[in-house]
Amino acid sequence: MRTIVSTWKRPGEVAIKAALIKSNAGGSMLDAIEAGLTAAEADPTLVAIGKGSLPNTDGELELDASCMLGKDLSAGAVCALRGILPAITAARYVMERTNHVMLAGDQARRFAISQGLTPQNLVTEEIARRFEMFLVNPDQARQYVHAVEDEPPHDTVTMLARENNDFVACSSTSGMPYKMPGRVGDSPIVGAGIYADNEAGCAGATGMGEELWKACASFRAVEFMRNGASAMDACNEVAQIMRKRQPKSLEIPCVVLALDKQGGFGAATTSGTFELWVAEGDSLQRHDFVPQS
Ligand code: GLY
Repeated sequence: MRTIVSTWKRPGEVAIKAALIKSNAGGSMLDAIEAGLTAAEADPTLVAIGKGSLPNTDGELELDASCMLGKDLSAGAVCALRGILPAITAARYVMERTNHVMLAGDQARRFAISQGLTPQNLVTEEIARRFEMFLVNPDQARQYVHAVEDEPPHDTVTMLARENNDFVACSSTSGMPYKMPGRVGDSPIVGAGIYADNEAGCAGATGMGEELWKACASFRAVEFMRNGASAMDACNEVAQIMRKRQPKSLEIPCVVLALDKQGGFGAATTSGTFELWVAEGDSLQRHDFVPQS
């Protein structure tokens, strides 16, 4: 049975439904996840990833994305990519068409264009309006990010897939809202934002990138599974360690999610609430998580 998971309520739903369509049409796990993240990146109504997501302090969108295959540890990533969609496809092309793992900034953009991806404006009118608000009152704009909407904006969608103990992990992000230009978080970093190894399982992350990166959250979860933990126990263990050792992880949610070799899934957050979409065969369900004490 194929299992696909996707993070956060609205963007996760858009992503997982597009992934299921691709999967049901015969696409590989990587094809399915790429289609899912592509759909979420392209949707200008989602304040999440890709078009219409929240910019850096220059008002520009700098996108990060990554993918990893558990069968041979192949990986590809782009970071600080401007004006190109889908960022996840650019990351896939790095994995499949170069001898490298990551391309950054203007050279990632140049590579993506050379591979057929079209430059485009990703800043919508709504995002330009919010950026004006940020310029006038940064603190108020940041409060607006977290407080006003029924579902706060999310900056990352991470997706995992498993079929016959073959694992794939991918992530796409616009990064923390109003981040410093050039700042890169966990999402494109193999071991931090994603990790997959068919000998152990796969994991991904979403939330405060600096803390997740310092924890090597995804690699750590996979290593717990390698040592026999279930996906749920591995995620809880990583979140507990972060809560204990990294006080900042209590201020902004840091989430780890995983799939194990026993057919299980898991997720844990250091703070706040977290929604994970899980598609197992024909069944699609949303699971909500809160921090474990
Ligand atoms: N987790 C996404 C970021 O911090 O950039």
